[in-house]
Amino acid sequence: MDLTTTVSRIVLDHPECAAVFQDRHIDFCCSGGMTLAEACAKRGINSREVGAALEKAAMLPAPSEDPRALSTAELVSFIVSRHHTFLRDALPFLVPLVAKVAGVHGDHEPRLRKLQAEFFELRELLDLHLDQEEQTLFREVVTEAPDPERLRSELAGIREEHREVGAALHRIRALSDDYTPPPWACTSYRRLLVELRHLEDDVLRHVHLENEVLFPRFIPGRRP
Ligand SMILES: [Fe+2]
Ligand SMILES: [Fe+2]
Repeated sequence: MDLTTTVSRIVLDHPECAAVFQDRHIDFCCSGGMTLAEACAKRGINSREVGAALEKAAMLPAPSEDPRALSTAELVSFIVSRHHTFLRDALPFLVPLVAKVAGVHGDHEPRLRKLQAEFFELRELLDLHLDQEEQTLFREVVTEAPDPERLRSELAGIREEHREVGAALHRIRALSDDYTPPPWACTSYRRLLVELRHLEDDVLRHVHLENEVLFPRFIPGRRP
């Protein structure tokens, strides 16, 4: 794996590498412009070990369709039907589960109450974010001649929200010890961590697709 390739590019070329970065707390969505060498140096981890894990992941079968080959209308439709629909199912499902686990085990593990508060904030942010994208930005980008000024300001707002979402996921991961259940965790607690990990997987791929495939189409010189 070439150490001078950006982490964002590696995930674009090999989507299965996303999990390797997630496990090592390397951000490929909002700081995806860093090279592999820079990202490893920033995290203080061995780039050779990461490179070997990436090579292994890159050998897994790739998804059948490369999103870079889709038209903008197809890409927007894919993002909404795949990722927005996922979140609109997953978030309401997780609300009572987080509340139940924090309510039952919060005295024993107080970080669960913080995790609940973080999750509720993330949920609110994502609910507004999905509506905002669908009602403004996505409508604009599929028009024949998007207004460059309006696009620029909408993109800046959406990118800032992506950074907030990434930071919230990072805090949830830290509060749950990288989604590791304590030995005494009940079935609901374990299920919650599995679902939160799944949520992180999906949101990071979703944001990466928007930041690195969709948005660069509207920034001169940035099309991947
Ligand atoms: Fe989205
Ligand atoms: Fe988004």
